[in-house]
Amino acid sequence: MSYFSTTKFKLGILGGGQLGKMLLAETQKLDINTFVLENSADAPCAAITNNFVIGDWKNFEDVYHFGRDKNVITVEIEHVNLKALEVLEKEGVKIHPQPSVLKIIQNKGVQKDFFKKNEINTATYKRYTSKTELIHANLEFPCIWKAETMGYDGNGVRKLNCTQDIKNLSDVPCIIEELIPFTKELAVIVARNVDGEIKTFPTVEMEFNQYNNQVEFVLCPATISEEIDKKAQEIALKTAKSFKQIGLLAVELFLTKDHRILVNEVAPRPHNSGHYSIEASYTNQFEQHLRAILNLPLGCTKNKLPAVMYNLSGSKNAYGNVRYKNMEQILKFKGVTPHIYGKKTVKPNRKMGHVTVVNSALSEAKKIAIQVKNTIEVTGDKKQ
Ligand SMILES: Nc1ncnc2c1ncn2[C@@H]1O[C@H](COP(=O)(O)OP(=O)(O)OP(=O)(O)O)[C@@H](O)[C@H]1O
Ligand SMILES: [Mg+2]
Repeated sequence: MSYFSTTKFKLGILGGGQLGKMLLAETQKLDINTFVLENSADAPCAAITNNFVIGDWKNFEDVYHFGRDKNVITVEIEHVNLKALEVLEKEGVKIHPQPSVLKIIQNKGVQKDFFKKNEINTATYKRYTSKTELIHANLEFPCIWKAETMGYDGNGVRKLNCTQDIKNLSDVPCIIEELIPFTKELAVIVARNVDGEIKTFPTVEMEFNQYNNQVEFVLCPATISEEIDKKAQEIALKTAKSFKQIGLLAVELFLTKDHRILVNEVAPRPHNSGHYSIEASYTNQFEQHLRAILNLPLGCTKNKLPAVMYNLSGSKNAYGNVRYKNMEQILKFKGVTPHIYGKKTVKPNRKMGHVTVVNSALSEAKKIAIQVKNTIEVTGDKKQ
């Protein structure tokens, strides 16, 4: 059923966090009737969606009952109950991204096997079923450990320097990857609609905070040569064509010293590296995701202006009810737009919002973004 030919259309979104909230800003423009499934009544989406359903997107019953009467279901997080989505798909509900895509992406080991099978360059790796197996594996250090499932925002990832480091790991199926001494981390978001129309967003550069190892700044466009840009775009496109996902696929990349590009991992949804597009692009990533899953023509992905995004995360000792210190001051800076996700309580490193800076010069946008970083602080009313 085409969205524009009915007044009964229902879009279900699994997950009620900030990605869902920013997607809802776009569903409102097209007047789409939305339903969000999330287990916390004060989640960022709760006050905005047309219908908020309390439930657990990891639970079979909750997802199945939520999904039965929807026309299209999408996700803002990939770790959702797959079995329920597989049953719903059989019953005729359109699930975008498809359960077959989610199944590969939910497990980092399966995802790496998929890259290998499809000749997508990635760091060499080996899969292990348990910690005991790892202890006897004779690993080469340093290396990178990743839990196969449920890793998020780097919390399922560790650098191992010696055998001793294995002791502190959870006893779960995992992969061990060679450590890539990359020069930059890049990302390309690719959109694909139901008919197979495909478009890439510009290559962006992600800068990580050295203390918490989270993305701190995203620069669009990335400061790379045309040749590397072209390579990054080609690899992202090849990756998306292999997955044949419907909706967005964010492709995270490593650029090595010898100018090789390796795929780190993918996410089948809007991505932190694409938030800049809300202010900077002709079509932002959230609108593009909707166009793709509703099988509409995809929008232009070019930037109107260069942009730098800065993530607002809870500071070191921030606990309790959130406080945004010096927000008034940053609003005086040129080209600055803050986004506050609406999470009531803060924790150290919890993503609470972001600030986008647009400017006709990327270097100037970066300078202002650094000023934003030095001015603003996300704190709480309690210290632990
Ligand atoms: N093989 C590797 N070599 C060097 N660094 C790595 C490697 N794999 C991951 N990292 C570092 O760890 C970070 C997190 O890894 P990854 O993206 O796989 O995990 P994640 O938990 O899904 O993180 P997120 O949700 O933040 O994307 C990467 O962005 C990169 O900085
Ligand atoms: Mg990642």
